[in-house]
Formats: sequence, structure tokens, C-alpha cells
Amino acid sequence: MLILGIETSCDESGVALYDTDRGLLGNALYSQVSLHADYGGVVPELASRDHVRRVLPLTRDVLVQSGRSIGDLGAVAYTQGPGLAGALLVGASIAHGLGYALRIPAVGIHHLEGHLLSPLLFTPALRFPFVALLVSGGHSQLMRVRGIGQYELLGETHDDAAGEAFDKTAKLLGLGYPGGPALARLADGGRPGRFNLPRPMLEHMERTGDLNFSFSGLKTAVVTLFNRQPLDAIERADLAAEFQCAIVEVLARKALEALRQTGLTQLVVAGGVGANRLLRERLAAGGRRSGYDVHYPPLEFCTDNGAMIAFAAALRMQQDPGFRIQDSAKDGFTVRPRWDLEELKAASSALSRSS
Ligand code: KG4
Ligand code: ZN
Repeated sequence: MLILGIETSCDESGVALYDTDRGLLGNALYSQVSLHADYGGVVPELASRDHVRRVLPLTRDVLVQSGRSIGDLGAVAYTQGPGLAGALLVGASIAHGLGYALRIPAVGIHHLEGHLLSPLLFTPALRFPFVALLVSGGHSQLMRVRGIGQYELLGETHDDAAGEAFDKTAKLLGLGYPGGPALARLADGGRPGRFNLPRPMLEHMERTGDLNFSFSGLKTAVVTLFNRQPLDAIERADLAAEFQCAIVEVLARKALEALRQTGLTQLVVAGGVGANRLLRERLAAGGRRSGYDVHYPPLEFCTDNGAMIAFAAALRMQQDPGFRIQDSAKDGFTVRPRWDLEELKAASSALSRSS
């Protein structure tokens, strides 16, 4: 079956074509970075309006790339949540419009499920069960993944997500939006250790085994240092390096501890912060020491994309052909701006069908 995947949960319009027999056939992305840059962050209304402009041209692009026509589609998958309500509604409306016109199912997918299953698309040797570290702009979670739809939360952030901490700290250092990659670049030219930042909840983990995170104190520590005295370029790079080192150390040690506690040997890293070079190095070194395998999607698929949405829909529909298909003509359709991943039990598909 040929599945069109549409991702519009935040500031990237992503569209992809996935064929259940032949794999990923086409992928196209439009990033709204320049649109939001002047405002220092994502403006939800601008994001929604831009998704309206981008999704259909991107759909045409992926069809042309792969030599297919719209009539070949067997299903349209879209991000149903979590994310910005207006942005989600754009993808959902287009998916349901296409589904209705073509008389094919429109399938709502959880954004984080898309991220956490995406390494399976690129690493066919990867098998359930595994531990997933989901680190994006809105989420920092460790999950035990037993199978499709079987996700158990092992730890999550009490406050800021890892990507959010990167973005807010980058803004403070005058690096603009989006901050994560810019802060990582600055950090790579600096030296950790000159400044002394906390490693939140690491000691606590050593005492209690707690796998939760807290990153807002780290940001406050950076603000305090930053306000104490003016920093020159080298000091700013050193502060960025210490900040990156602190976040990465916490993420890597907790991910490795999650593997130890569960007795599992495979780690999947997903979400935008998974693109961070230092995090990859630390996890690779820890994995080698302890005999764990660490898997990532390719860099361009770490951040938001349509391929992960089409692929998650393919897996879900293989498991249950009626999976989360809303009859939009009869019942309309909904998006879920707030939506816990743990709610996605495999058994929930029957419920979703009747919703
Ligand atoms: O998964 P994603 O594309 O979107 C969300 O669902 O949030 O993740 C975006 C987040 C942003 O916070 C961005 O700053 C962060 O991932 N990010 C990075 C890097 N690349 C992206 N953070 C640290 N280092 C990077 N290289
Ligand atoms: Zn994401």
C-alpha cells in the first residue's frame, strides 16, 4: 500500500510517500525557520498559515519524485497530536479532504510514536523490545518499547524539555531561533569546565534509580552566570560547552541507566536533540563499554518529517487495518494538541475506531 505522510505539528511542513512493499519513495520538507526567526520563537498563527501554503506543493513534489500519481495512494497519514492546535488542524484537514475525495482512509498518528518508531525504518535489524530516548523541543522521555503501541514511561522531564532548554539558553546567549543547533555549534568551539553548572537529578538517580529529568534549573544557572558579568566570545563558547556537556551527561547517563534497569540492550534515540554530536559520542562510548547497541534515524530524519508519520501508520495498519481511522464524513475529525504517548496502548485501536 502507498501511504502519504503529512507532518504539521509545529514549524516544519513534512510530506513523504512510503510504500509498504518498497519502503520510502519520496520525502520533502519545508522548514519555517526564517519565518519565525524575527520573533525569536514559533508564532502559532504564522505556522498554521504557512502549512496551508506548503503541504499541497510538497505533496506534488513527493509524487513527482517517486513517479506516482495521487490516485495510487492507499491511505493518508497525518500527525494528530501533540503539537500546536492550528498547525495540526491544517495537516488533519488536508489528510481528511484527500481521504474523502479519494475514498481512502485518513489515519491519525501520534507525533512521538512517529519519532520513536522511525529508527525501524532505517535499521531493519532493530527488533522489539528496546529503550527509547525521546528528546525534542517539547519532550524528554525514556520509554520501554515492547512492541507497536506498547510504550511504558520510565522517566520524563518535570519542567523544560531538553530541546527547550537548548533553545531558551541559546536565546539568552543571543543565538536566535532555533537555538539548539546554533548553541551546539558554539559549544563545539568552547571548553567545558571553566564554568560550573549542575547535572540536575544525576546524584538523585544514583541514590534512588529515578529516571526523571529536570532542566529548568540549568537554564537558571546559566542566566545567573550570564548576568553576573559581561562575557567575551571565548567565555560565551565555554559557557555553551559547559551547558551542552551538562545536558548531554544527564541524558546519556540516564539512558544507559534505563538499559541497565530494564535489562534491555538496544537504545533508540529519536527527536531533534538526537542530532546532537556530543550526545551521540557519549552514547556510543557508553554503549561500547556496556555492550549496548545505540540506533538513530539518519540526521535529516531526527527532526520532524513526514516519513516517520507514514511509516508509523504503515506499522499500525499492518497490525490492525482499522487503526484510528475516523469517518470524517460522518463524525468530523479531531486533533489532540495534548496527548500522552502512554495512552497509545495497542488495545486502544478498537476504542479509536468508534470515536
Ligand atoms: O523533534 P524536533 O524537530 O521538533 C519537536 O518535536 O520539538 O526537535 C526540535 C528540537 C529543538 O528544540 C532544537 O533546538 C533541538 O531539537 N535540536 C538540537 C540540535 N538539533 C536540533 N538540540 C541540540 N543539538 C542539536 N544539534
Ligand atoms: Zn518532533
